[in-house]
Amino acid sequence: MAKQNNPIGIIDSGIGGFSVARRVQKQLPHENIIYFGDGANTPYGNHDAKDILALTRYMLAFMRQRKIKALLIACNTISCLIDEYRREMDCPVLSVVQAGAESVAQLPVERIGVISTCFTASTGCYPALIAQLAPGKQVFSHGAKHLADLVEHGASEQAIDAELKENLDGLVHRDQVDCCLLACTHYPLVEDNIRRLYPQLHLVDPAQRMASELERCLKETRQMSRRTTPGTVELYTTGDPKEYIRAARRAGLEGVITAQSWPAMKLEKKKEDA
Ligand code: DGL
Repeated sequence: MAKQNNPIGIIDSGIGGFSVARRVQKQLPHENIIYFGDGANTPYGNHDAKDILALTRYMLAFMRQRKIKALLIACNTISCLIDEYRREMDCPVLSVVQAGAESVAQLPVERIGVISTCFTASTGCYPALIAQLAPGKQVFSHGAKHLADLVEHGASEQAIDAELKENLDGLVHRDQVDCCLLACTHYPLVEDNIRRLYPQLHLVDPAQRMASELERCLKETRQMSRRTTPGTVELYTTGDPKEYIRAARRAGLEGVITAQSWPAMKLEKKKEDA
């Protein structure tokens, strides 16, 4: 059955995936997007693998019912575990970690900084993938505990700047990295703050490569949209839809036709939380 006009699915723990969605929109303006952000359970980066997998499967079930023609995992934390669930979808599944690693592997630099959530840093997925793609480069990973959450909840500039300094000073001053990969999709949403604090630091956002990879994949499978009108965006969240509309506007996402609330998956209480 022809799928050309079916939507692209994008998932993230929260609003971070807007940094990917806006690039997809620029590159493929006639595609419709269905976005799911698990605002009630964010940040994923402080959960363990078992919980991240359970929460992700809940979003995959949502997407399976939407007849999407491709799924973008616009969350590094989820993408670290992609091998566990890629085969659970019957459409191409693209990983932001793959896009991020490819983006820095091709740069003519030696010392690569990777700032991510604590979970992403703990898996070592970036150093391993970059070593495969471009052996010999040095990778300095750092996990930031609170940054994604502050961005998600629209914290003040002052709070964001303090958190950025806390987490980036070491990579910039001690490790003297040549570039820094923004390996959590929430971070490009505060790229202006990072540029103001570290004007010399070369930043790498995986979103551009992810959008290009999506275009390549749709062309290869002859599934590019046949519409000539601008694509639309449908937002679904287990958080606050009004917040999502505001965040989408701030991120520069256009064509949002609906923002709806979706019931959250409840995680089992752990002994230490009880
Ligand atoms: N935006 C997500 C990522 O790229 C994670 C944020 C979170 O911890 O939920 O890793």
